[in-house]
This record gives sequence, structure tokens and C-alpha cells, in this order.
Amino acid sequence: MCSVYVDGVRVTKFEKSGSDLKSLLVEAGRKALATSKYPEPQAIFIGAMNPEEFTGSGNIATLTADALGLLGIPSIRVETASSSGAAVFSVAYTAVASGIFKNVLVIAGEKMTHLPIAKATRILAEVIEIQEREAGASMPALAAMITQAYMRRHKISHEGMEKVLSTIATKNHFNGSLNPLAQFQKRITLEDYKKSKFVAEPLRLYDCSPITDGAAALILTREKTDIRVVGIGQGTDTLGLRQRDSLTSFMATRIAAKQAYEMAGIGPKDINFAEVHDAFTSFEIINSEDLGFFEEGMGWEAVEDGVTHIDGQFPINPSGGLKSRGHPVGATGLAQVVESVWQMRGEVDPKRQVGKVDRALTHSIGGLGNNNFVIILEKNNDNIKPAQRKSFYTLPIQIPRSADRDDAGIDGKEGILETFTVLHVPPEGFPSPLILGFVQIDGKRRVLARAMFLGKYRLGERVKLERDGNSYFFRKVTFLEKVKYYLRQLVRSEKGFKKSPNSWLK
Ligand code: COA
Repeated sequence: MCSVYVDGVRVTKFEKSGSDLKSLLVEAGRKALATSKYPEPQAIFIGAMNPEEFTGSGNIATLTADALGLLGIPSIRVETASSSGAAVFSVAYTAVASGIFKNVLVIAGEKMTHLPIAKATRILAEVIEIQEREAGASMPALAAMITQAYMRRHKISHEGMEKVLSTIATKNHFNGSLNPLAQFQKRITLEDYKKSKFVAEPLRLYDCSPITDGAAALILTREKTDIRVVGIGQGTDTLGLRQRDSLTSFMATRIAAKQAYEMAGIGPKDINFAEVHDAFTSFEIINSEDLGFFEEGMGWEAVEDGVTHIDGQFPINPSGGLKSRGHPVGATGLAQVVESVWQMRGEVDPKRQVGKVDRALTHSIGGLGNNNFVIILEKNNDNIKPAQRKSFYTLPIQIPRSADRDDAGIDGKEGILETFTVLHVPPEGFPSPLILGFVQIDGKRRVLARAMFLGKYRLGERVKLERDGNSYFFRKVTFLEKVKYYLRQLVRSEKGFKKSPNSWLK
């Protein structure tokens, strides 16, 4: 396998743009080629999540080759939902490393802001597993339920979590204010955060990445440059959250991280800074744990201690992240690499420069954490301190099980409300507000259901499931049902007593 290097890089301004997708891709591509010593690529690799539905146009690989004046050479599109920008980097890397191509142009982009929010939300939700989608789940809704589950698991109060999430939001908006290419260059205060509307409780407007237009591009080459690609990893997981063992970490990230660190021969401690997929503020915490930067359940403390701030010991998202730089879904994974290259070359505004960078890591999530990438770049410089080669990635990895989890016999059952959210910006076709919750049955199976009635619900309370067509609904159990439940438990424990009376004495 040949070594692969990054040459010219470029990102368009992320914003509500007047340009169409083709123009954004071409702008990024042309500018990257203009800054490269290799302006005649042998192939084009394009990442985009869903131009067909967002813009009504397909076949963008050919369209872009033509618009760039590069007809004749191979041009191919790559898609893995919201990690498409990282996926196209990975595929292009393989093509160059294999020796087939010497120099290739990699471009990724998305055009989203021309659509009404409910329609954009519905298109984004198409990557969600069908049962969860039919219940009304959107990306913010699932992220909100993951946040609740994280709070419950690590015993964090609502006030405590609000403080941590608002710190991430203000940090990333501050970083974005220093980035002229970010969608939001507006700093926000704790007050602004607290006043902002709930999107999916407990997540507010300032916890969510926005809808954005934009594109990124770079040249990958076998010719030696100052930046070498030293690690790439990719992991997959079940589409549905209901089919996963854990709601508080992403196994696909752990798999990708392990591969990338092993390929680079380094561990998390050898990385100087990271651009991670903060589509929702709580994801920044979970990602920083899955990537091995902080211990499980400690990522939120690192935020509070200022470790991840731009001038902290381990800066995260100096670009402003998805939160503030913006999230044109297909472009993001590649834009993270461009930011890393700029930081490593010392080409960002000194106010945003995280210091001397020998190694940077980027992390991109596809779908709701089910097709994730980790990329590690290293300064190709003989003077850099050699990697420690001690601190390999040590987090446990459980290979995801098959998605076929039986939901037979769930209808009419009682279960525990494991996590829930009140969704205020639902996908097209669903009412607002919409209460959605994961109900756990028999201590193992999980289903996403809609609350039958609006009202107050508690995490961990018993609810009853009812099926209507393909969707499940939940409601509080009645007083009579509660009595029946406790009587059943009593009878069970009586039987247990009769079977093995000694067990009570132990
Ligand atoms: N963060 C900060 N400000 C935002 C914002 C965000 N995420 N989204 C919109 N705004 C700003 C707008 O610029 C606007 O400001 P203005 O009044 O000064 O122009 C204001 O907030 C209201 O914007 P509006 O368009 O009414 O917001 P919305 O309710 O339509 O959309 C969200 C807000 C959060 C629902 C939407 O951005 C969203 O769905 N985000 C998630 C996208 C997603 O799931 N991506 C995939 C993840 S992998």
C-alpha cells in the first residue's frame, strides 16, 4: 500500500446560500485545485447524502465532472448518510493507496436550506430505521432520548446537564465566531441558551446543528506533501436504536477508532486536537468518550473544566463544529479534514489556532450513529516527536448483533419507559408536540412508541403498549393495572418461596 498525502484544500462558506449544489461543489473543487501542485486529477470522488430528495437532481458525479471541465476521467459518488464527506475521503484514500490513481480530487457537499424545515426534517429522517421513523422520530428526537439516557446512566440532574450542554453550545458558537467560513459567527451567552426554544426536550435550538448549504474539497496524492493520512477506520451498527445494547455510546465510533489508532500505531493521548460530530451538543460528550479522550461518564466533566475549549489542554471543534460552522450533511466529514489541515499548516486566524499540531483526528457520524468514520492526519515532518506507541485504544467493543429483533407479542404488554422526549419540531405529517419514548419490555426488548396522550411522564415509569397499524403507542398504566401487576409479582415471589424456601434465608 502506498502512503497518501493531502495537498490543496478548500471549504465554501457554510450558510444559507443562493447557489445550487452543482455550483457549490464546483466552487470548492476549483479552489482546491487552484491551491494544489497537482491540478490535473485522474479521478473525481464526490460525497453527498441525498441530492435527489434535497434538490431533485441526481447523477451529480457526472454533472460535476462536466461543470469542472474534467469530462473523460472517472467520477463517482459515495454515500453513507451524514458521514458521506468522510466516506468519500476514505474511498478516495483507498483508490490512491492501492496505486490505481496518483492524484484525485475529493469533493463533498449538500444543499438543504431552500426547503421548509418540516420537509428537510422528513428527508433527514429517512435514514432512521423504519419502525422508529413511522413512530415520528427525527434526528433531534433520537438525540434527545440518547441525552436523557446518558443523564440517567451517569446520574446527572437536569440542571447539571443544562449547564454542560450550554457550555458546549457557547464554546462552539465562540469558536464559530472566529471562523469566517462558519454559518453562525455569533457568540451566545448562557442567557441566550436558556431563552432558546426546545426542539426535542431536553435539547434546545442551541443544542442542534442547523440546516446548511456548503461544500468542501481536497486533493489526495501519492506525492509527498506536508500532511500524511496515517489512520482511517469505519464502523457500522444497527439502523435502529431499539436494536442496540447501549443508548449512551456509539459502537460504530469505537470500531472506527480502534482501526484508525491501530493503523496509525498510536492512541488517543497522541492526538493534539479533534473535530468531532457534534450534530447535537450531547454527542460531543459521548464522542469524546468513545474516541478514548476521556473515560466513560467523564466527558461532561472535561467540558465543565474547560479542557475542550480552544485554549484548553485538548481543544475540540475549533472550527465551531457542526453546531456553529454548520452541517451541510454530505460536506461535513470532509470539511473536518480541511479544518485539520489548516490547523496543522498554521493557516487559520491566530485567534482560532489551537497551537502546534502534529496529529489531528476527525470523527464523523452517519445516520443515528450507525456508519461512523475516524481519520487521523500527521504532519509529515522529520522533526515531530515520535508517537508514544503506548496508549492504544482500550475501550471494550461489542460487535453489533443482527437487526432482526423480534417484536412479536409486544402489543398489549407493559414495560418501562427507558427514555423519552417531547418533540416540538416533528417531521412533515406529524403533530406538534409529539411525545416519543423507548419502552423496554421483559428487560431486553425495546420499542419506540408515541404517547397516546399529552401529559407528564417520568423516566423509569411503567407504561402499557398498544399497537395501531405499524406504530406503537404507550400510555400510563391505570390504578387497577398497577394493583394487578403488584399482585402478580406477589404471587410469583410466593411461588419462589415455596420452590426454594432456603433462598429467603441466604
Ligand atoms: N443553531 C443556532 N441557531 C439556529 C439554528 C441552530 N441549529 N437553527 C436555526 N437557527 C437560527 C436561524 O438562523 C434563525 O435566526 P434568525 O431569526 O436570526 O434568522 C432562528 O434561529 C430561527 O430559525 P428557524 O429557521 O425558525 O429554526 P427552525 O426551528 O426552523 O430550525 C432546528 C431549527 C434546530 C429544528 C433545525 O436547525 C434542525 O432541524 N436541526 C437539526 C438538523 C439535523 O438533524 N441534522 C442532521 C444531524 S446528523
